[in-house]
Amino acid sequence: MNINWNTQLYCLIGNPIEKSLSPEIHNYIFNINNMNCIYMCFNVEDNDLHQVLDTFKILGIKGFNVTIPYKIHIMKYLDEIDEEARLLGAVNTVKYLDGKFIGYNTDGAGFVKSLIDSGIHIKDKKILVLGAGGGSHAISMKLAQSGAKQIILLNRTIEKSKKLAYNISNKFGDISVEYDDLKSFSQYTDVDIVVNCTSIGMYPDTDEVPIDISIFSNKTVVCDIIYKPIKTKFLKNAEKKNMKIIGGMDMLINQAILSQKIWFSVDKNIAINIDEIKGFLHYSVE
Ligand code: ATR
Repeated sequence: MNINWNTQLYCLIGNPIEKSLSPEIHNYIFNINNMNCIYMCFNVEDNDLHQVLDTFKILGIKGFNVTIPYKIHIMKYLDEIDEEARLLGAVNTVKYLDGKFIGYNTDGAGFVKSLIDSGIHIKDKKILVLGAGGGSHAISMKLAQSGAKQIILLNRTIEKSKKLAYNISNKFGDISVEYDDLKSFSQYTDVDIVVNCTSIGMYPDTDEVPIDISIFSNKTVVCDIIYKPIKTKFLKNAEKKNMKIIGGMDMLINQAILSQKIWFSVDKNIAINIDEIKGFLHYSVE
């Protein structure tokens, strides 16, 4: 990497940002595309968020990502919010253009791209979503927008799945949305796709699973948005049953690629080799 006076800085803001894989993904893409850019992480305090944006403006930073806990909080400081980010209720990508900060969300689209790349279509599918936090919100809304026939939301705190179900029905009247307690999962065996959006199974609790996979037929596609470990126990159990699986690393890489498409214009052809990225991220994660 040849850093010079003309190198453009892109970055991630959040708290904590330790162990984020975004710098490795973005710097890899910059390198193989010969882009004179560098990507860094900044741990930002809540009270400083507004000032950080002013500083970015002064420094001429053209784009950045936002992570936990600022994906919602950042919205009030932006000049414009794109339609998809408004639908998903959160921003993970910001572009600075013509004196304005514009907010986008690539989380939902990144997840959907992982499904499509694996040959799985969402239209008219019955989908079981586990969890009702930020990740679940972005993914469920995007699945509804992508034409799912039915979404069933299961969460430990039923009030949260109820609220999310209400939000989805409000935006997409023609989709059937149900919600229930996570403990009632065994009533929902007949689904095309199941997505774990809870943090159950995430490092260091890698022996845990959100639900028992054996209730589904082996035609059900099993997805997990956790990427540490790369293959959760939930996915390993599904694989043992010969079910098709999709891990969180695919979504993570896809949301980063989509962020770059926003920063460098949607039509820009960005070369990447997902397997190569996964190969070296493997060492950072395991
Ligand atoms: P994210 O933004 O990654 O979605 P989050 O908003 O903190 O993170 O959501 C975490 C999800 O995992 C929630 O659905 C949470 O359930 P609650 O809403 O009941 O808190 C779920 N979760 C985390 N630990 C859990 C556990 N031990 N059992 C059941 N659900 C759990």
